[in-house]
Amino acid sequence: MLSSLQEEIINLKNEKNGIILGHNYQPGKIQEISDFIGDSLELCIKASEIDDRDLIIFCGVDFMAETAAILNPDKKIIIPDYNAECPMAHMLSANEIKKAKERYPDADVALYVNTLAEAKAEADIIVTSSNAIEVVENLDNNQVLFGPDNNLAKYVAKQTHKEIIPIPEIGYCYVHKMFNIGDITFKKEKYPNAEILVHPEADMEVQDMADAVLSTGGMISHLKNSKNKEFIIGTEVDLITRMNREFSDKIAIPLLDDGICKTMKLNNLDKIKKSIIDEEFQVKINKEIAKKSLKAIERMIEISKNK
Ligand code: 13P
Ligand code: SF4
Repeated sequence: MLSSLQEEIINLKNEKNGIILGHNYQPGKIQEISDFIGDSLELCIKASEIDDRDLIIFCGVDFMAETAAILNPDKKIIIPDYNAECPMAHMLSANEIKKAKERYPDADVALYVNTLAEAKAEADIIVTSSNAIEVVENLDNNQVLFGPDNNLAKYVAKQTHKEIIPIPEIGYCYVHKMFNIGDITFKKEKYPNAEILVHPEADMEVQDMADAVLSTGGMISHLKNSKNKEFIIGTEVDLITRMNREFSDKIAIPLLDDGICKTMKLNNLDKIKKSIIDEEFQVKINKEIAKKSLKAIERMIEISKNK
């Protein structure tokens, strides 16, 4: 049952003809009031299809809300907490990409959606953790500048025939860096029948020990379709909150109890209510940058929808 505050938020949102989009890592209370919950690709596609709403309340981190704003230049996109940033998205600047392009003039530039709009404007195409392999395979050139996540770069390099050049050399997600092979060995002993699912942002030795390497949306689909009952999940803890709410016949166990993305948790119900009333904080993107990054995002959505 929803709390009175959750009901109040839903009413306020409806009065303003709004929609609440939430990433899989949002706390359970926010998941419960989201009109749509998903991974980065699912959220991009959903954002590209919104044409009947005036206000988008984006519960996630900065690069996700920016992507929604680029895809919806005529709508108000608001984020409940201005400081909800993805540290990895800040590890690759537009300048660094321009320099890399000078060093590798024949390379395509494929950037992880976890980048800021200025960086996306320098990309030929965007990828997410659920489509990186097929998108990169689709590129014309053999050399591909790829960033900022170094582990995702290695994951793509392993499964494509392209020469992947990581930019920067050591971009990473501090949450997925927490997982190590000892955690897997420990949990495997405790739950010998459980399947191990990890995210491609995890280190390679962790990926190598897993039964499957998937985006957060891929993990949800995997649980839905698998005959297995127990799963050890190597990603942020609130994906497990969603799994245990939606799949009552399955058991999802976190690989680590403290695999928490702190900035994802800056959003809360009080801030969402305030953000809808005050229509703050609005995400605004420079027009020229938005135009250039839109091309790279749309190119990715096109490939993903046609698969
Ligand atoms: P997904 O696209 O798999 O949800 O990943 C987003 C993210 O930030 C992972 O840490
Ligand atoms: Fe960024 Fe990692 Fe948080 Fe995902 S989990 S938003 S990559 S810091």
